[in-house]
Amino acid sequence: MSTQHGHGHGHGHGHNTDIDWEVMADQLESSGELQLPLLRQTAERLRELVGPQVRRVLDVGSGPGVMTCVLAEAFTEAEAVAVDGTPGLLDRALTRADRLGLKGRVTVQHADLPEGFADLGKADVLWSSKAVHHLGDQQAALDALAGVLRPGGLLAVAEGGLPTRFLPRDIGIGRPGLQARLDIVQEEWFEVMRAELPGSISVVEDWPEMFRRAGLTSVGSFTTLLDLPAPLGEQARSFLYGHLTRLRDTVSESLDAEDRATLDVLLDRDSPDGILRRPDAFLLSAATVVTGLAP
Ligand SMILES: C[S@@+](CC[C@H](N)C(=O)[O-])C[C@H]1O[C@@H](n2cnc3c(N)ncnc32)[C@H](O)[C@@H]1O
Repeated sequence: MSTQHGHGHGHGHGHNTDIDWEVMADQLESSGELQLPLLRQTAERLRELVGPQVRRVLDVGSGPGVMTCVLAEAFTEAEAVAVDGTPGLLDRALTRADRLGLKGRVTVQHADLPEGFADLGKADVLWSSKAVHHLGDQQAALDALAGVLRPGGLLAVAEGGLPTRFLPRDIGIGRPGLQARLDIVQEEWFEVMRAELPGSISVVEDWPEMFRRAGLTSVGSFTTLLDLPAPLGEQARSFLYGHLTRLRDTVSESLDAEDRATLDVLLDRDSPDGILRRPDAFLLSAATVVTGLAP
């Protein structure tokens, strides 16, 4: 379902909600790499929350496996499994693991969810970042994940936080406040994307409460902050270039002509006002992780 052409139909209310995950591979890996110090902190936190006996760790909706490899490094006695519906991303996860000297410690499992939940086997730690929101019934997904845990096992789901910020309010081109307007059109895109998922069900996205409904205990949450100040290095700029390119491809039809023109300037590789060259670009984002234990 999630391989070549996601699950959207691509024409919902003028929004292009098709997601080609293979095409997103570079962007997902570069986002993960920018967050590596935070992912390592998160893995340490998970180690503190779960008991000492961790034999199997799953990263559900792993993408290219950046966190899978971090989890393999943190849980030295465990097998870490990248689970995803996109074969090309699982290949990336294996290549990455080899490169980092984790060959044999990281394995992959292809699974089209939610059907694939049944074949996941048991785990002591389950990590899932920004994947549950791509499933139509998010509560059923959490119920299924909780069912995969061994007694005392830990579920950690990264969903929500704050929208990414990377430019000042007034950038000297177009109307000030572009980022706030981008947030609005992204929210609209997200809503259409969710509505078009198979078996889509609305739920109050109170993640801790959803964890408790899934039967988990000791439910809590924490938030990590990615704070890369200006001037940005090349890696962060190229991530933002990819991010803005994706916004232009998916939501620019919902922006007015002036904001579309501003996006074009930001994406001009040769312009001193472009995201690749302007001195004021920064990267600030917050990711919330909800955790709970199987009784
Ligand atoms: C936004 S990416 C998140 C990747 C990574 N966890 C991260 O935080 O960067 C969502 C991932 O979920 C996978 N995915 C989406 N829908 C899926 C489905 N129905 N079954 C299996 N995997 C799916 C995609 O292939 C993609 O790798």
